[in-house]
Amino acid sequence: MSEIFNAEQRRFLKLLGLAVPGESPVLPLAKNQAASAPVQAETKAEIPESTASSLKAPEGIRTLRAAAGILSAPPTVAGVPQPVAPELQPKIPAEPEAAATLSDLPAPAESAEPQRLQQISASDWRDLQIMVHNCRACSLGETRQHAVFGAGNPRGSWLFVGEAPGAEEDRRGEAFVGRGGQLLDNMLKAMGLTRQQDVYIANVLKCRPPNNRDPLGPEVQSCLPFLQRQIALLQPRIIVALGRFAAQSLLQVTTPIGQLRGQTHRYQNIPLIVTYHPAYLLRSPLEKRKAWEDLQMAVQVYSAQSLPELFQ
Ligand code: URA
Repeated sequence: MSEIFNAEQRRFLKLLGLAVPGESPVLPLAKNQAASAPVQAETKAEIPESTASSLKAPEGIRTLRAAAGILSAPPTVAGVPQPVAPELQPKIPAEPEAAATLSDLPAPAESAEPQRLQQISASDWRDLQIMVHNCRACSLGETRQHAVFGAGNPRGSWLFVGEAPGAEEDRRGEAFVGRGGQLLDNMLKAMGLTRQQDVYIANVLKCRPPNNRDPLGPEVQSCLPFLQRQIALLQPRIIVALGRFAAQSLLQVTTPIGQLRGQTHRYQNIPLIVTYHPAYLLRSPLEKRKAWEDLQMAVQVYSAQSLPELFQ
């Protein structure tokens, strides 16, 4: 009789408290035995009364199976896997539904959106600042410390556009004040510009995405109207897009940054030059040379379209 079950199967039967043919019966574990008592008490406390009775037996079995280290290996007879009763099968949580594409993610609440967009497009600089600071159009409004409206001189002729605030910007509520900001200031200095005098700096997103992840499509969709209104009010003479997100969002294209560099684009008739984001340049310093070429080109485009003051 005993050769029907191999050693592991006999151990399994014993763990379940079942009789092993050819061996003396195993007594159920006493409640006060150290190994079982705490587990039972813990399991019971977590299960609501109404479901406790239906879950009791499998849960107890699972606990024993887990204690025996045989959670995923059902007993076999002569190497043939046996069907496992559904209640013995380990529960595998379903994968959360992944969005197929960014555009599948929910857009901002539709009913409030036209009114919000209308308010943004009619706002002055101060109202726009207030709207940004109070914005809850996407979930980033829940996780940010500060919304970051921008930095620099709103009367400057140059607009630099970044992607989204980082940790330091989120903490201080000001654009480009972290390591990337220091590099940006050096880039401006090399061009003969300062943020105090010549430049305003804004971002596509006004709130920091958690862990600096890439902005999501619906977040850009919600936030871009703020930047568009900023540009309408600032009327810069030239725009420099820092990185792919800024360039693609402003130009409404999906073209890779490598192809967008080296040309003069137009945003509502304002010349727009694309260069690498300072954070990318910090990671890839060899690309700084290319960024410098972009910035020199921006200076040329700016100079070519600006009448010298003497002529005005
Ligand atoms: N990166 C950005 O794109 N913007 C900031 O303000 C800071 C870092």
